Amino acid sequence: MKKYKKHIKKNWYCFILAPIFMLLEACGEFILPFVNANIINKGAANGDITYILQNGFYMLLIAIGMLITGILGAFFAVRGSTRMAAGVRQDVFDKIQTFSFSDIDRFSTGSLITRVTNDITQIQTFTQSLLRGFFRSPTMLVGALIMSFTLSPDIAWIILVVVPILAFATFMIIKTASPRYTTMQKQLDTMNTGIGEAIVNEKVIKSFVREEHEKNKFSIINQNLKDKSVAALKMMILMQPISALAVNVATLIGVWVAGRKIMVGGMEVGTLTAFITYLSQVLTALNFLANISLQGTRAAASDRRISEVLDTVPEIRDHNAKKKEHKINSGDIEFQNVSFRYFKDTKTPVLDRINVKIHVGELIGIVGSTGSGKSTFISMIPRLYDPDEGTVLVDGIDVRNLSLHELRENVSVVLQKNTLFSGTIAENLRWGNEDASDEELVSVCKIAQADSFITSFPDGYDTEIGQGGGNLSGGQKQRLCIARALLKNPKIMILDDSTSAVDTATDACIRRAFREKLPNITKLVITQRISSVMDADRIIVMDQGKIVGFGTHEELIKSCMTYQEIYYSQKDREEEADHE
Ligand SMILES: Nc1ncnc2c1ncn2[C@@H]1O[C@H](COP(=O)(O)OP(=O)(O)OP(=O)(O)O)[C@@H](O)[C@H]1O
Ligand SMILES: [Mg+2]
Repeated sequence: MKKYKKHIKKNWYCFILAPIFMLLEACGEFILPFVNANIINKGAANGDITYILQNGFYMLLIAIGMLITGILGAFFAVRGSTRMAAGVRQDVFDKIQTFSFSDIDRFSTGSLITRVTNDITQIQTFTQSLLRGFFRSPTMLVGALIMSFTLSPDIAWIILVVVPILAFATFMIIKTASPRYTTMQKQLDTMNTGIGEAIVNEKVIKSFVREEHEKNKFSIINQNLKDKSVAALKMMILMQPISALAVNVATLIGVWVAGRKIMVGGMEVGTLTAFITYLSQVLTALNFLANISLQGTRAAASDRRISEVLDTVPEIRDHNAKKKEHKINSGDIEFQNVSFRYFKDTKTPVLDRINVKIHVGELIGIVGSTGSGKSTFISMIPRLYDPDEGTVLVDGIDVRNLSLHELRENVSVVLQKNTLFSGTIAENLRWGNEDASDEELVSVCKIAQADSFITSFPDGYDTEIGQGGGNLSGGQKQRLCIARALLKNPKIMILDDSTSAVDTATDACIRRAFREKLPNITKLVITQRISSVMDADRIIVMDQGKIVGFGTHEELIKSCMTYQEIYYSQKDREEEADHE
């Protein structure tokens, strides 16, 4: 409840005024039939026109009052619930921003999206209904009962009999329907994840001609959702006919009992009319309560899912960092006995007791077969993940003791799977540094060998980029990502296979620029092409989570088996290509 309290407090007047206005409206609802009965019984029966006009005027006033209070009640209910939902949505979104990579791995992106959108909408709908009906419906129930007893206990007892029967039937229906709704909700989750994945990867799907497969997969999920929804709704549609039947039977009994009394002069016609109106009010109130409790069960499921996000303590935080004030001066990096597993119960570690020392300003190449742990290795430096054992030091200080902000400001990583956002090229670059001048943009783009292709566009740096950089080539995107990372002016720059789509000549230019223009930045370059890092100061060779070689190209070619294997296999392939 804590998560809602804050936002309820902020909009407290909505949460007080909405039920009050709805209550006032309900009062009108059960006074009207009473006045009406009087008009029939006293006015019409005696032909008293003044009485009829006077009470008719009262009825008009009450109706206008009900209109105004009804509108105001609905207005404040909508205002309160949407504002509260917006607040919680912001909280959930903000919380997700604090998540570490492992937290996101755990939830999955699709499910996080459903939580921020659909789950919060469920809470909003429920809150709105609650504000409108929580007091109003029971009041209407009790009010209708009291009023009908005041009019004539002779037929009011029928309501007393009908209500428990109807309530019991409603309860049974909801009891069966509510778990079905929960299943339906889960199925909706599966569908959202499925749709998200398919649409994001539309191009991959097309290139593998997997459209049919995807269509079938979706059709199964869709069918499933339909079945689950039908199962839930099947129960709910029973409610209408059952309550209609109950009310009709009750009316019938009422007419029969009242009719006999009216014939012998023991009751007036107006009383019967009012009684019938009260009966239908009871029915409406019961239906409303049933709907609220149904929405309640759905909202409870959503609430649990929202809490899961809000209650997550991000795995990587810096609240206990001992050197939060420390400003990183140099890009020295050291790994001391670092081991790491993604899944803590797997046997073989992804990083296995890594020890390595990298000096400021060095250009370090990192090579190794796919899956050998290269990306994992570098993700320890900006604390995308924390090691299970051992320590990573930057500028001689354990990264866990630095402020996360300071650390990540100074360690720029171009991730293997990097993305651009919709907006202009300049806007994208300024993600690296909001206040960068145009000259700075040009200067980093020159280092990343991006300036020439950007200026060849008619709009230059103001060229609009489509979603995810769709209108740029793979190599162009990579160079923009490098420029964006450079703009942060980091002490440590990490490129994870970031020039894989760039031709070798341009790749060499980037490295030369790195060496000449960024002598004081420590540069780590992961690559599949040994030719890209042959001229690096030193090269790290990884194999199955271990560092199996560390030295210059000349040293490694003599001493490191793994390095030799990779080098010669790539050389042979290049020669074969040359022959062809
Ligand atoms: N987020 C993750 N969750 C679970 N396992 C992961 C995750 N990322 C990587 N792994 C596993 O960790 C191991 C090392 O992966 P890593 O990405 O570090 O390799 P890599 O050397 O960068 O490979 P590549 O050259 O293909 O990029 C692999 O076995 C991989 O399956
Ligand atoms: Mg990798």
